[in-house]
Amino acid sequence: MSRHTEIKRLTAPDIRARKGVAPIVCLTAYTAPVAEILDPHCDLLLVGDSVGMVLHGLPNTVGVTLDMMILHGQAVMRVSKHAMVVVDMPFGAYEASPEQAFANAVRLLKETGAQAVKVEAGPSIAATIAYLVERGVPVMGHVGLRPQAVNLEGKFRAKGRTPEERARVLGEAKAADKAGAFAIVVEGVDETLAPEITAAVSAPTIGIGASAQCDGQILVTDDMLGLFEWTPKFVRRYADLKGVIDKAAAGYAADVRARRFPAAAETYALGGGAKAQRPRVARGDKHG
Ligand code: KIV
Repeated sequence: MSRHTEIKRLTAPDIRARKGVAPIVCLTAYTAPVAEILDPHCDLLLVGDSVGMVLHGLPNTVGVTLDMMILHGQAVMRVSKHAMVVVDMPFGAYEASPEQAFANAVRLLKETGAQAVKVEAGPSIAATIAYLVERGVPVMGHVGLRPQAVNLEGKFRAKGRTPEERARVLGEAKAADKAGAFAIVVEGVDETLAPEITAAVSAPTIGIGASAQCDGQILVTDDMLGLFEWTPKFVRRYADLKGVIDKAAAGYAADVRARRFPAAAETYALGGGAKAQRPRVARGDKHG
């Protein structure tokens, strides 16, 4: 019998069953404190390879490694209890062969405890999705603007300008669906293409820069929290955390320079005579 407290998360079938029923709320998460805040509000948390740009200062997602994804996946899994957690397969971890993809997906699921992986679904990846699904790995596809392919075009470019491009993206979504993807991220496409894809596939579509006509939505959390000066057109800012952090840092710096910090309430008085208020024990401080 398991000694673990049972955690009842949403599962791949739960997410799939939402198609046409209720919008699916998704956000990216990379760290324990933020994941803990997001978890009760979301149906699905994606440990996206956008972590490379958001937390590690990389110019794109190409440099992200499997070890980075495992580390951040573990952090998110430790604190979340409600949302389904999906971890991105980084560039180079699944394209060589279905066998390579399976070996790396197994590492991601075993070492993080996450429930599924996501792959950017170019034309040749459908066979890999089918291979993974047949072997017990739930897979989320990702079509349209595929950030890991940025070096082919030299920049991030929305898709669906020409009939050929529309047909290609629609074909990729249909192939991922047929291969058994339980959901499909549709990123950066013309607003008339997303409803076409959503109607053509049985898996729910999760839009990002793809119009409201998808079965769910996802944003990069740090974008919607306003941590960056520049964000893509499709981001709506729900907070200005950059401004909040900037103001807090300026206040701290001013207090340190004026010797206003620390004050008596923030220092230890260990019987040395001073009548300072006992400080709150810092997190992890065993000496109190
Ligand atoms: O890596 C990521 O954050 C993603 C989302 C943009 C869907 O793939």
